[in-house]
Amino acid sequence: MKILLTGGAGFIGSHTARALLTRGDEVIIIDDFNDYYPPRIKRHNVATLQQSFDRLRVYEADIRDFDTLRTIMYREACQKICHLAARAGVRASIADPLLYTQTNVLGTLHLLELAVETGAEHFVYASSSSVYGEMPTAPFREDMPLDKPISPYAATKKACELLAYTYHHLHGLPCTGLRFFTVYGPAGRPDMAPFLFTWNIMHGHPITRFGDGSSQRDYTYIDDIVTGVLAALDRPFGYEIFNLGNHRPISLNDFIAAIEHAVGAKAIIHEAPRQPGDVSMTCADIAKARALLGYEPHTPFEVGITHFVGWLRANRHLYL
Ligand SMILES: NC(=O)c1ccc[n+]([C@@H]2O[C@H](COP(=O)([O-])OP(=O)(O)OC[C@H]3O[C@@H](n4cnc5c(N)ncnc54)[C@H](O)[C@@H]3O)[C@@H](O)[C@H]2O)c1
Repeated sequence: MKILLTGGAGFIGSHTARALLTRGDEVIIIDDFNDYYPPRIKRHNVATLQQSFDRLRVYEADIRDFDTLRTIMYREACQKICHLAARAGVRASIADPLLYTQTNVLGTLHLLELAVETGAEHFVYASSSSVYGEMPTAPFREDMPLDKPISPYAATKKACELLAYTYHHLHGLPCTGLRFFTVYGPAGRPDMAPFLFTWNIMHGHPITRFGDGSSQRDYTYIDDIVTGVLAALDRPFGYEIFNLGNHRPISLNDFIAAIEHAVGAKAIIHEAPRQPGDVSMTCADIAKARALLGYEPHTPFEVGITHFVGWLRANRHLYL
């Protein structure tokens, strides 16, 4: 199977590429290697893949550039599309909503349009738990009505789900949206709390705890997410959306304690008020993904964060 993977140089993308290549698929990566976090990390991710696999081609291109995207997609004629490229920071989206909308909404529209033009069989794309906003009840189910996103990022991800539905409705394109719940693990994004807290605790630097520590997140280990992405790619439905989470949220205070334990050092905690755009709780209901994708997360946070700490110790040089 030949798969177009946007955002393949990034965190989830590079792990997904490795899993696809390992099982024998051909992978075509499109990524613009932007500097939201240091591009050398993305180049390292790709170089590591290129050392091990031949069936990989990488295009440095921007999904906002329709003509370039069209040239690549006609040339490669991939059977399936796994669209993970996006601007992915909640707080950064408040600072630059234009960039977020252009990349996430227009970029996704370009890919949907070209998926239809080039006859792709299945369009799988990354959505986010952020689309749930401030839900009064948890766990979050895919069929909850969602029309109150609380950050530009969340609004762009909801817009992608709507556009995917339109393309499915008009053109019969099978579309599967995956709402990822805070993903962490080796090569994890350095702007996210699992990385930042681990790094700072490891180096004796203070961490900032936003709010009173009672907020809860459903942290999902990267290997579990990748298993879910591959299961989704393998099972086209008409139009579906799946939560991919761990279904075991932990409080910010327990999160810090688990990292302290894995690192073997105490955190120096600075307190700050809750940030705009942050939600107080995320928790995935994964019954639908279990039933239709056979998705089953296996990694408790304490285990995943211990793997991550080991990986970060071995790869610390990438972040200096
Ligand atoms: N990591 C999480 O916890 C999480 C949670 C929910 C949803 N998501 C979604 O999953 C996807 C992957 O996230 P990630 O954590 O791996 O982020 P990431 O930033 O590591 O990966 C995204 C990749 O997309 C690329 N990209 C961004 N804009 C592009 C453009 N205009 N053209 C081409 N490439 C572009 C980036 O260079 C990067 O390599 C994103 O769609 C994100 O919104 C992630």
